[in-house]
Amino acid sequence: MASLETIALLAAALVGGLYVAACLIYYKLSWAICRLERQTTNQANNVISQIEALLSLYAEIRPTHGLPPTRGWAASPDFLRLLTRFVSETQPMTVVECSSGLSTLVLAACMRSQGQGHVYSLEHEPEFAAKTRDLIRLHDLGEWATIVDAPLQELSLPNWEGPWYDTTGLPSDIAIDMLVIDGPPQSTAPLARYPALPVLGKRMRPGGIVLLDDADRADERLITAAWKKECPSLSDIPFVSAEKGVACLKQQIQSLACAMSPDVEPRYLQV
Ligand SMILES: C[S@@+](CC[C@H](N)C(=O)[O-])C[C@H]1O[C@@H](n2cnc3c(N)ncnc32)[C@H](O)[C@@H]1O
Repeated sequence: MASLETIALLAAALVGGLYVAACLIYYKLSWAICRLERQTTNQANNVISQIEALLSLYAEIRPTHGLPPTRGWAASPDFLRLLTRFVSETQPMTVVECSSGLSTLVLAACMRSQGQGHVYSLEHEPEFAAKTRDLIRLHDLGEWATIVDAPLQELSLPNWEGPWYDTTGLPSDIAIDMLVIDGPPQSTAPLARYPALPVLGKRMRPGGIVLLDDADRADERLITAAWKKECPSLSDIPFVSAEKGVACLKQQIQSLACAMSPDVEPRYLQV
């Protein structure tokens, strides 16, 4: 039979163990609550930022009808607001966009505000090309934007292969001042948006601006790094942010055509 002393020792060990377990649970719960609080605050702040950006957008472009929803497939208000900012700062004459939608409407409205310029939006889905055309018509912006039917077709670059836009519908004589990249969708290929610069970069004017949406995603980080490596004349425009991440690059000196090297290490882009 256990002595009283042993029982007391066991009881003390049990109480001690329970105390340590309670402390651990307490610290784990506190940490989880703090994390949840931080996430909720960040989410609330982001909702407010998006509402503020949307209000600014309405004030700036003064649409004649309500804008379509800005969640899910569409560009976020803060990204759209960046488009208006860069248009007003750089006054581009020619904007080329990869993937049409609300961003096309916003860019076309900017062109109308500045009284000059045109947006060419490459769209691979005929259904959404038609929707964007309807949207542009509804807002009476037909003079400022063209939705180019650009089915995805196999493209082979030195370091990338896959489906990308057929750009033959773009006018051959344009010099691009602003390139906005929000497509093709990620599901179409690994590093689906990479070809934008190798293909369209040679048609950019020196000093042109490149804006890549969703730049926080792993694919887009790799794409941005590859572009900068291949084209040292591209530099970051600092202090620019958006909820899904945005890469803003400026082409500094010579045309991108000189800088995009055709002999990039073939495996460089593989994930
Ligand atoms: C990431 S979304 C970008 C759309 C566009 N840049 C914008 O900001 O609205 C990429 C693709 O979504 C598709 N899309 C366009 N309008 C859509 C809609 N109303 N509903 C669902 N998908 C749409 C198009 O095929 C487009 O190329």
